[in-house]
Amino acid sequence: MKPRILVTREVFQVTLDYLGQHFEVDSNQSDTPLTSAQLSGRLADKDGAMTVLTDRIDEVLLAHCPKLKAVCNIAVGYNNFDLKACTARGVLATNTPGVLDAATADFTWTLILATARRLTEAEAWLRAGEWKGWKLKQFLGTDVQGATLGVIGMGRIGQAVARRAQGFDMTVLYYNRKRLTPELERACHAQYASLDELLARADIVTLHTPYSPETHHLIGAAQLAKMKPSAILIHAARGGVVDDMALIEALETGKIAAAGLDVYENEPKFNPAFLKFKNVVLAPHIASATTNTRRNMAMLAAKNLVAALTTGNPPNLLNPKT
Ligand code: DGY
Repeated sequence: MKPRILVTREVFQVTLDYLGQHFEVDSNQSDTPLTSAQLSGRLADKDGAMTVLTDRIDEVLLAHCPKLKAVCNIAVGYNNFDLKACTARGVLATNTPGVLDAATADFTWTLILATARRLTEAEAWLRAGEWKGWKLKQFLGTDVQGATLGVIGMGRIGQAVARRAQGFDMTVLYYNRKRLTPELERACHAQYASLDELLARADIVTLHTPYSPETHHLIGAAQLAKMKPSAILIHAARGGVVDDMALIEALETGKIAAAGLDVYENEPKFNPAFLKFKNVVLAPHIASATTNTRRNMAMLAAKNLVAALTTGNPPNLLNPKT
């Protein structure tokens, strides 16, 4: 008998075909998120699951799923997993690093340019029929060329964002838990800075850390107060890295000039106060959303699941070694 698995949300047909060669597949192709009760009901008799960032895999759920041996996230972030609980119950957990770096870095630049040049504000105005003619001072933006970029979190995605800054002749500062090797710093044309120095000097601050108890509200009122009043904050990392209430307050009081956001606390019910700002570009968590990238993410998660349930050694294992 083939192992039984659950695919919790809609994926590509090619992914389902691949999974079908190895498993008996139950899948939620209606694409409505499963409630925790539905999730634990559908997983109770399964050997594995392909999950997304909205599926909470914790001790309560695992206690109802005694057969479960692997949970494979279609995401590089895995803060929806209680990794300790998975490890304690012998459940292998995996993510999808690498395949989304370029798409996420490209989208970070989409946010940087759209925010600095006020694209969404200008487009909304044009669509509303407000454009009566060209003016010298119409929708004046901020130069990106030659500005100082501050990258917080210099993993693969942060590095890809920094490398792209060379096309704009930017000075790149970065802050990371661990300093990069001199070779990597040279490849990224980036100089290490303390968090405070980066916040004080950068014209554009962009966030690329994972979300964890250590990075919860890494950017809050105190950090926003250290930024230049002319600075822009870009956030395509994970909701919770920024204290959204503090950001709203900083935008209201002009502590910073603008923001470009792809992620929020309490997605998808983000704070509606963001909607009132013309100087904030808002996206619905789509930084990795290109057809190729999302296909590659789903396929990598599927390969992790096949390896986890056949060899017990998936390529992107997250559980700490014992
Ligand atoms: C990730 O991979 O963590 C992304 O946020 C999902 O789009």
